Amino acid sequence: PDGSIEIPVVVNVLYKTAAENVSDARIAEQISVLNADFGGTNTDINKIPSEFLPAGAGNTQVKFRLVNTVRKSTSKSSWATNDDMKKASKGGIDATTPANYLNIWIVGKMTSQGRTILGYATFPESAGLWNDGVAIAAPYFGKTGASAPFNLGRTATHEVGHYLNLRHIWGDANCGNDQVSDTPTQTTANYGKPSYPLYNTCSGVQRSVMFMNYMDYVDDAAMFMFSAGQKTRVQSVLASNGARSGLRL
Ligand code: ARG
Ligand code: ZN
Ligand code: CA
Repeated sequence: PDGSIEIPVVVNVLYKTAAENVSDARIAEQISVLNADFGGTNTDINKIPSEFLPAGAGNTQVKFRLVNTVRKSTSKSSWATNDDMKKASKGGIDATTPANYLNIWIVGKMTSQGRTILGYATFPESAGLWNDGVAIAAPYFGKTGASAPFNLGRTATHEVGHYLNLRHIWGDANCGNDQVSDTPTQTTANYGKPSYPLYNTCSGVQRSVMFMNYMDYVDDAAMFMFSAGQKTRVQSVLASNGARSGLRL
């Protein structure tokens, strides 16, 4: 009725310990965070600096609805980014109809090149493939019981952003291009809780950095906005001729 697209979500939980077997309540909490962040109803949206208010997306008109939770006990304590968690033959859980559902896999721990990572996602180019979806390590999923400073459910917001075609705001290169014109070009990723304003220079132009965007690398408490240009990208993959049109009701 409000023109939003509601994405059906299947959460696949692979747990070795009881703590990794995240509760239904925590899954519901994570879905609520996604709805708030994509809906622009997050309680910290009022922290957007006035300079960036015109570029704010407000409501991206994407909603999320949990349709199923699949749980499986495993003896594996750590997973890689090789998609094994998405394959029953590798001890994982096969995706549920990935063309029509956003599959989220939760594992106890994930590493990439020897380092712990929070999560990873497939872009719309992978729409409908067996490995399509988002993987998140349990300590960074949901809020209650999650691990600070990534305990506000925003790893999922960031990863679902990738799933819906959003790039890192620094374009994964020094002064790279994220294909969004209302996110100021920035030199590199930001971490922690930067203080506003933060300036950097690309091609001789000094700009104030939108580090509070969900597609930067700052702490959960330091990110609270999508831009209007990001909303346009998300809506275009979800359109009836978009790569992710299969998620529409
Ligand atoms: N490093 C991860 C990625 O590249 C996720 C970063 C999420 N940030 C956060 N504050 N939760 O996809
Ligand atoms: Zn990312
Ligand atoms: Ca940009």
